[in-house]
Amino acid sequence: MNALYDTTVNGTLTPPGAELPRLLRAPAAGPGGLDVHVDAYGPLPSGRDVIALVDAAGLTGRGGAGFPTARKLATVAAAGRRTVVVGNGGEGEPAAGKDLLLLHTVPHLVLDGLSLAAEAVRASDTYLYVERGSPALPGLEAAVRERRRAGMDRRRVEIVHAPPRFLAGEESALVNRVSGGAALPRATPPRVFERGVRGRPTLVQNVETLAQIALIARYGPAWFRALGTATEPGTMLFSVSGAVAAPRVIEAEIGVSLPALLGAAGGQIARLQAVLYGGYHGGWLPAADALAIPLANTALRPRGVSLGAGVVVALPADACGLAETARVARYLADESAKQCGPCLNGLPRIADALAVLARPHPDRRTRAWIERWSSLVAGRGACHHPDGTVRFVRSALRVFAHEADLHEGGRCSATTRRAVLPVPAPGVPAPRDWR
Ligand SMILES: Cc1cc2nc3c(=O)[nH]c(=O)nc-3n(C[C@H](O)[C@H](O)[C@H](O)COP(=O)(O)O)c2cc1C
Ligand code: SF4
Repeated sequence: MNALYDTTVNGTLTPPGAELPRLLRAPAAGPGGLDVHVDAYGPLPSGRDVIALVDAAGLTGRGGAGFPTARKLATVAAAGRRTVVVGNGGEGEPAAGKDLLLLHTVPHLVLDGLSLAAEAVRASDTYLYVERGSPALPGLEAAVRERRRAGMDRRRVEIVHAPPRFLAGEESALVNRVSGGAALPRATPPRVFERGVRGRPTLVQNVETLAQIALIARYGPAWFRALGTATEPGTMLFSVSGAVAAPRVIEAEIGVSLPALLGAAGGQIARLQAVLYGGYHGGWLPAADALAIPLANTALRPRGVSLGAGVVVALPADACGLAETARVARYLADESAKQCGPCLNGLPRIADALAVLARPHPDRRTRAWIERWSSLVAGRGACHHPDGTVRFVRSALRVFAHEADLHEGGRCSATTRRAVLPVPAPGVPAPRDWR
């Protein structure tokens, strides 16, 4: 028996209590090796019905769509032999940093989750997908080697480098890249759980989801459900930035209030105008609404936004929401794979029109053009990139409607043009190819 395994079949390890942090408990000691990891979280459980535990815990994916994890695990497990599991740490979202933090500080927790998911679906191959040049790579490679020496994982974990592109983490792009090709999205169906890496049924799970699986398998569903809401249990990593004193990744329970989350990021440093949720495929809410609504999909979705991958950006009152949206829309248009009509023709036109709307000058037609192009591209791409982009743009037209009125009259209420939303400079820092 390996001392790093807990071979208890029915019992769970003594849970560490309901307090936070959960996922990020180890970082106080820094990204130590396997012994530090086992001291912090306990040994890797074995012999448990991981799918049943994850189902009872009610875990949903933390990569953006929030799909029930147990359903995905069960579907791939039912697909039969030679399945594949990929941990998605691509994190192409510029305003997010949680997967990097997780991979950097608790690599063994992610690798535990990968191993448990692989066991649950009887996978023959496991991969970890991480951005090329990521500062987390040396630690991850060392962790994989350490586990191999300790005989921890039944399967060899191969690390595959993702290009630094917004779309590289989309699951069909990921599957193409892990299969040896370019990280370009493809039309679905077939979905990746039907035909994924080299044509085999593939489970793609965000690395935070995997780390949550590692905790649920150790401490059980009741412990997991002690935080969060009844319908959205557990904690989530939020990448909080914008008008806060200390932008950072914060682990908080789902359902936390926005003031509490902003407080954990050092507190507001300005009066707020709006808040961006979910990322660049997410959407804006006016600050007054956002401050009153808990961070849970049940509360956010009726307002047209969602938690997505946990991005929360606080826009100060002196910034221009239209200018911010225009910069990001240009980035999203540039980042498209340019394989389908909506991305080739639609997104650049929307970005051009938004750039016009972002400048105060008399004009009454631009908004209507943005609406028109948005309705033409929605639902027409091979992947969700046009839909996600349009969702973001439409939320801006709703939330910044008053500002658009002012711009159309040649005026602007913003007193600064300092950029709030991060947008990578074209071609910097990494080559913009798809491999
Ligand atoms: C344009 C686009 C980009 C995406 N990028 C990522 C990413 O960087 N990381 C990630 O985990 N999921 C990303 N996703 C979601 C994945 O396609 C997939 O749903 C997710 O990895 C599944 O894991 P989960 O169920 O654990 O959330 C992206 C989706 C889209 C449409
Ligand atoms: S919709 Fe856009 S991003 Fe998606 S596959 Fe087509 S061209 Fe590429």
